Amino acid sequence: MRADLVLVGFGNVGRRFVRLLDEQRDSLADTFDLECRIVGIATAKHGAIFSPDGLFATNPAAPTAPVDALPALYPGAESVEGSLEVIERLGRSDSPTRVVVETTTLNIVDARPALDHVEAAFEAGCHVITANKGPVAFAYDGLRRKAEQAGLAFLFEGAVMDGVPVFNLVRETMPGVRVTGFRGVINSTTNHILTALEDGEAFEPALARMQAEGIAEADPSLDVDGWDAAAKAAALANVLLGAHVTPHEVDRTGIGPASAALARRARTRGNRLRLVASGRVGGRPVVRPEELPGDDLLARLRGMANALILQTDLLGEVGICQLTGGLTLTAYALFSDLITIRRRCPGQRAAPLRRIP
Ligand SMILES: NC(=O)c1ccc[n+]([C@@H]2O[C@H](COP(=O)([O-])OP(=O)(O)OC[C@H]3O[C@@H](n4cnc5c(N)ncnc54)[C@H](OP(=O)(O)O)[C@@H]3O)[C@@H](O)[C@H]2O)c1
Repeated sequence: MRADLVLVGFGNVGRRFVRLLDEQRDSLADTFDLECRIVGIATAKHGAIFSPDGLFATNPAAPTAPVDALPALYPGAESVEGSLEVIERLGRSDSPTRVVVETTTLNIVDARPALDHVEAAFEAGCHVITANKGPVAFAYDGLRRKAEQAGLAFLFEGAVMDGVPVFNLVRETMPGVRVTGFRGVINSTTNHILTALEDGEAFEPALARMQAEGIAEADPSLDVDGWDAAAKAAALANVLLGAHVTPHEVDRTGIGPASAALARRARTRGNRLRLVASGRVGGRPVVRPEELPGDDLLARLRGMANALILQTDLLGEVGICQLTGGLTLTAYALFSDLITIRRRCPGQRAAPLRRIP
């Protein structure tokens, strides 16, 4: 089966995804009977291009080149207006499977334009896979309905804990199980800072060091003010608990200079201060620093580690840990979403069960 893809956003994640597709080309063909072609790319400042015959056929090295003006990088491709036109062009193509890969930056005010991209994709008859938390955190229910009505997929495994399966785990491997709540440490940067604080560092130097090491953003407010965790908490609540919240409705407290003394004091008591995101059916999701007993799974997470505990009716508490991070994990989230689309496509040769090993 052939799938044509357009990339809306072509930064760190989009580019790693393209390379992953290339690395996995044989496995995709042999195991999943899937051949992927990238036919369009849209960015904010580097232009937008479309080529119905596939972009990388003309310049296979381009995904590894520095991001530059796209039309110059792909001379055979047609320069187009922007993201919405790239999506529309994909919708008009004759490809049997059309997928919009949305990896633009999170807009914590209202999730736009990512939300516009997802809606435009459904209108154009395209599946959507995204690593952007915005659409699922702000508008999951409406988007899910639109996708279902159109017989399309809306998948976002990379929105929480990169490629470590959270949504896939529940959807694919826990049939009949009802998730009643969750609690987790789901923001790596703040966990890294809190670990440094409990080891004796002050807040500002710890943050500056993490910015210098590329762990924290130049503008760290999304992380330290708890917005990133709130977006993930809203996504988890909307998808797993049937909530209808946005990140702005999450009861949110971040971390700051005052967290240093609290983190050190917690440690002297054998406890740990962690930024915990939690939710339960019918309740408002919460993100706030909590002093946890030292033997709590979440208390034991140091540095970049993340974990999520799902409270369920039939399986008790189920914990998922992410001990490493990195772009490959996020790119894998998109890859696994693509495989989910392939598995759902009717009338195609079914993918065989994975052989282990
Ligand atoms: N990096 C990670 O490890 C990670 C992990 C999990 C989830 N995510 C999520 O994945 C997404 C992408 O992350 P990233 O690290 O790849 O970000 P990035 O490197 O900043 O890339 C963002 C891309 O989106 C493009 N873009 C921004 N606004 C746009 C618009 N209105 N129309 C079209 N393109 C637009 C940018 O274009 P220009 O280059 O022209 O500015 C750039 O190509 C984000 O939502 C992020 O939260 C990232």
